[in-house]
Parts: sequence; structure tokens; C-alpha cells
Amino acid sequence: MTQKTVLITGCSSGIGLALAVKMARDEQKKFKVYATMRTLDKKEKLEKAAGSTLGKTLEIKKLDVCSEESIKLCVSSIPDRKIDIVVSNAGMGLIGPIECQTIEEMKTVMDTNFFGLVRLLKEILPDMKKRKSGHIVIISSVMGIQGILFNDIYAASKFAVEGFCESLAIQALKFRLQLSLIEPGPVITDFERKVFEDGMKMDLSAADEETADMFTNIYIKNYKQIFQVLGQSAEDIAEHAVTVILAENPPFRHQTNTLYTPVTTLKYADPNGDLPIDTFYKMVFQHDKIFSASLNFVKLLRWRSRKSFDLRKASQ
Ligand SMILES: NC(=O)c1ccc[n+]([C@@H]2O[C@H](COP(=O)([O-])OP(=O)(O)OC[C@H]3O[C@@H](n4cnc5c(N)ncnc54)[C@H](OP(=O)(O)O)[C@@H]3O)[C@@H](O)[C@H]2O)c1
Repeated sequence: MTQKTVLITGCSSGIGLALAVKMARDEQKKFKVYATMRTLDKKEKLEKAAGSTLGKTLEIKKLDVCSEESIKLCVSSIPDRKIDIVVSNAGMGLIGPIECQTIEEMKTVMDTNFFGLVRLLKEILPDMKKRKSGHIVIISSVMGIQGILFNDIYAASKFAVEGFCESLAIQALKFRLQLSLIEPGPVITDFERKVFEDGMKMDLSAADEETADMFTNIYIKNYKQIFQVLGQSAEDIAEHAVTVILAENPPFRHQTNTLYTPVTTLKYADPNGDLPIDTFYKMVFQHDKIFSASLNFVKLLRWRSRKSFDLRKASQ
């Protein structure tokens, strides 16, 4: 069995870190992992988690998805530039009313989440096409299928990713390349913490009173509970990703959270698109007490099946 070369972006924390370590620790040493991050100042956490795999099946490299030069340097440093599996994971979130966000902040999200993937593939795809082999794995989101209140720009960036991949997948098939979108729901990582903290300190003065109140007293108020009830761990997502990578016929789309599937199913159930929007509206503005009670019920079920997460423990 030949060892497969894997390049993963955004490995300083969360899903990228968990996936890099999981693949590097594979008992049969099926993978040689290039775990990349935009600044090596943050490598300590990964080094610790990698343990004895460091320098053997796991190597840490610098790669900033917002810099073509950084991507080129990193890819060129890999023997024969041969990457069998690329995992586009680097990403960031942004929540809040658009009136309170600057265009610059929005552009940074698009630049990282969408153009980051495009830059990466511009460098890696030609080699994969030449070899007629390769698997492109993208950590997308359920928000690439269905938008959520106050996630306008983040959802737009993941929709862009999904549209780009749907289009590219047809061409990829001609070159015998595989392309898979992993679509997690809420995951308890630094992402969740950073987005929440930014939301908490957001200057809402540019929004009208009703919008500011909706953001603070509905969205922010329920944020932690949604993550606590529905949230998966980074290790869960890594396990799903590895299953997709090892599959004989990897799926184009893979949702990781069965608790979230009913929400995304609404999208496909109504070609007019009204069903998910009406449902979210009613859930948030009309039946908020039922929604909150359902979350508590799911929490209880997860606790009983010993699958609930301690928010603090899981994000450490
Ligand atoms: N957490 C969730 O609820 C959730 C749900 C669905 C999908 N996702 C997706 O999962 C992916 C990973 O997120 P996560 O939850 O693991 O969050 P995370 O712990 O914050 O990890 C994000 C990673 O992306 C890196 N990154 C940001 N900008 C970058 C750049 N320009 N170049 C290279 N790396 C960069 C971060 O590096 P720094 O440490 O330097 O910032 C970090 O390593 C993202 O694409 C996210 O959209 C997350």
C-alpha cells in the first residue's frame, strides 16, 4: 500500500488540527500529512497533539490561504508537488446585522472562505489533472445549503464555496478526480468562541433598535445553547472526514450532524424556497418558546445517550 500525501489548511486549531492528528496517527500509516497554518507562531498546540507522529507522518508547514505566494511556496516544498488529498479547511465566521459590519470585514470573510479555496486549487488542481488522480475535500457548512439569521456574509461565503464546487465537480469527473464537501452543523471549536466574543462586543449603533434587540436578545441569547445542544466536536468532524476520504466512492456532499438534517431537508422539499424561510421565521419569532423547549428536550436526549458536550471541555 502506497502512502497518500495529504495537505490540510488551517491546522492551528479545531477541525484542521483534529483531522491532521487523526490521519497522522493512522495505525497502518496510510497518510503523510502536511498540516499547514498561516503562522507558525501557533504551532505548539498541534505539535503537542501530534506527539510522536511529528516529523514522521506529520509535518507542519506555513500556508496562508489569503496569499498566492504562501500557497506556491508551500506546495513547491512538497516532494514532486505530489498531493493526493487536499483538505480545504481554513475559514472564519462573522455574525451580526450587515449595517454594523464594514465591507472590509465582509471581504476578509469572502477572501478567506471562498477565494482561499480558489487560490489553493489554482495551485494544486493542474498537478492533479496531469496525474488524473486526487481527492479534493472541502470543509463547507450546512450554511452552504441554508442561510441562518444574522449569518448573511458567512452563509454567502459558504454558498459561494458550494456553487464553485458543484461546477468544478463536473470537470473533475472527466479527470477522474474526486471532490467532497463536508457539511458540519455547529461545531464546538475556537470558531464558535471567536464569533461569539466578536458578536458580544459588536457596535450595534448603526442598526435600528428592533434589529439590535433581535440580535442581542434572540440570536446572542440562544447562541451558546444551540452549540451546546447541537454541537459536535472537532474530533467528530475529523472522523466523518476520514470516512469520506477512505470511501471507495466518496460522496459529493456529506452532512455530519443528523440532528441538523431536518433543517437542511426543508430546502429540498420546496422548490419555491419559502418553506425553510417560513419555518425559521416561525421558529424564531412566533414559536420561540417551543423552539427553546425542543432544544432542552434534545439536550436531555443527548445527555441520556451520553453524547452531550461540556462546552468548555470540548473547546479546550
Ligand atoms: N465551528 C463551526 O461551528 C463550524 C461549522 C461548520 C463549518 N465550519 C468550518 O470548519 C472550518 C474550520 O473551522 P473550525 O471550527 O475548526 O474553527 P477554528 O478552530 O477557528 O479553525 C479555523 C482555522 O482556519 C485558520 N485560518 C483562518 N484564516 C486563515 C488563513 N488566511 N490562512 C490559513 N488559515 C487560516 C485559523 O488560523 P488562525 O488560528 O491563525 O486564525 C484556524 O486554524 C472552517 O472552514 C469553518 O467555516 C465550522
